[in-house]
Order: sequence, then C-alpha cells, then structure tokens
Amino acid sequence: MSAAPPALRNTEVTWGLVARLFHWLSALAVLFLAGYGFWMTHLAERAGRLAHYQLHSLVGWYVLLLIALRLAWRAGSPVPALPAELPRWERTTALAAHWALYALMLAVSISGWMVADTFRQPIEGMLFGVIPVPHLVSSRAYREAIEGTHMVLSYALFALVIVHAASALRHHFGKKNRVLLRMWRGG
Ligand code: HEM
Ligand code: HEM
Repeated sequence: MSAAPPALRNTEVTWGLVARLFHWLSALAVLFLAGYGFWMTHLAERAGRLAHYQLHSLVGWYVLLLIALRLAWRAGSPVPALPAELPRWERTTALAAHWALYALMLAVSISGWMVADTFRQPIEGMLFGVIPVPHLVSSRAYREAIEGTHMVLSYALFALVIVHAASALRHHFGKKNRVLLRMWRGG
C-alpha cells in the first residue's frame, strides 16, 4: 500500500505542503538577498556593481511577489496553534515575532524597490518577460534616506531571522517538541 500524499492545506495542528514550500523558499530567497546585497555594496568591484544591483532588484521583485502569495494563501487556511504547554508569554512573543518577520520582509522589499528608482538611470524590471514593474519614486531627492532605510531594515530582518532560527532549534533540541518538525515535514 502506498503512503497517503502530503496534505496541501494546513490543519489546526500542522503546516500543509504549500505553506512549508512558501516558508523555506522565502527563507532561502531572503537569506540570498541579504548576503548578495551585502556583498555587492561592500565587496564587489565598483565597475560591475550596477549589474549586481539590477539582478538583486529583479530577484527582490519576485520575492515580494512570493511573500504576497504566501500571505494570501495564509489568509485562506487555518494556522496551526503553538503547543498548548508553552507558557502564554512565549506564544505571544512567537506570534509577534512572526508578524514582525512578515512586516520586515514587506518593508525591506518595498524600500529596496524605492532605492531602485533613485539611480540616475532607474532600474527597470520586467517580470516573466512581459510585466513591466512600475516606478514608486520619481525623484532622487531622498535617495540617501531611502538607501539608508533599506540597509537598516535589511539588517534588522537578518537579526530577527537569527533569533527566529535559534528559537526553532531550541524547540527541537531543548524542549523536544514538534514545532520545527511540523514546519519541515508536516505530519
Ligand atoms: C527581503 C528582500 C531584500 C533583502 C534582504 C535585501 C538586502 C539588501 C542589503 C543587505 C543591501 C546592502 C545594504 C548596504 O549595506 O548598503 C541591499 C542593497 C540594495 N537593494 Fe536590497 N534587499 C531586498 C530586496 C530588495 C528589492 C525588492 C529591491 C529592488 C526592487 C532591492 C534593491 C536594492 C538596491 C538597488 C540596493 C543597493 C543600494 C545602494 O547602495 O544604492 N532590494 N539590499
Ligand atoms: C529568512 C529566513 C526566515 C524567515 C523570513 C522566516 C519567517 C517565518 C515566518 C513569518 C513564520 C510564521 C509562519 C506563519 O505564522 O505564517 C515562520 C515560521 C517558522 N519558522 Fe521561519 N523563517 C526563516 C527561517 C527559518 C529557519 C532557518 C528555521 C529553522 C531553523 C525556521 C523555522 C520556523 C518554524 C519551525 C516555524 C513554525 C512555527 C510554528 O509552527 O508556529 N525558519 N518563519
């Protein structure tokens, strides 16, 4: 007898395949953008930087789309509750941290989109080869402030991700509950 196919949708107790794919895909993409963003602005040869900014922006627009789809999917399915044996403060903190992660992913992506518009020659994007990305900013007046905002928010997101990943590992190895497993393989 073959095993049952994995459930696509979440249940009250675990994450479905779609939510898990969204989580790990966006985690990889965000970590990639953070590392690439740091490298291209501080370490890459100056002459080639603009091409890297273009690639970083293009990946960034797809990531923003991915986050929007992820939130839409989340709105239409149940969200598994955290284990009831966790103290109330811990459940509240986890919930707040998850919303802060979503808010920061959106804010970092939108501020990046704004930076892309403040170059002498604004960065152009074409999604799936056919959808032109509109411009959000038409003046270079606030370029430095926008650039600084994108940088600070990116590093804040990165810091929160470290705390988030450490908490997930603490659940798995310290508290020995299924919080990490249910995001990794559901069940
Ligand atoms: C979660 C998504 C993103 C992350 C984690 C991220 C991260 C970063 C980081 C770490 C830097 C370097 C900051 C510094 O030290 O100066 C950077 C720069 C940049 N990012 Fe992003 N980024 C994201 C999304 C985007 C998006 C969506 C766009 C545009 C559509 C974008 C456009 C840029 C540009 C143009 C720069 C260069 C800024 C400059 O020096 O002029 N980023 N990003
Ligand atoms: C850029 C990296 C990451 C981001 C942006 C991120 C973001 C998120 C968000 C927003 C949630 C809440 C899901 C929801 O309520 O819809 C979540 C859940 C979760 N994340 Fe991450 N995550 C990242 C990396 C990681 C890593 C590296 C681990 C493991 C070491 C991890 C483990 C988990 C687990 C176990 C949950 C589920 C918690 C639960 O079942 O209530 N995440 N993540």
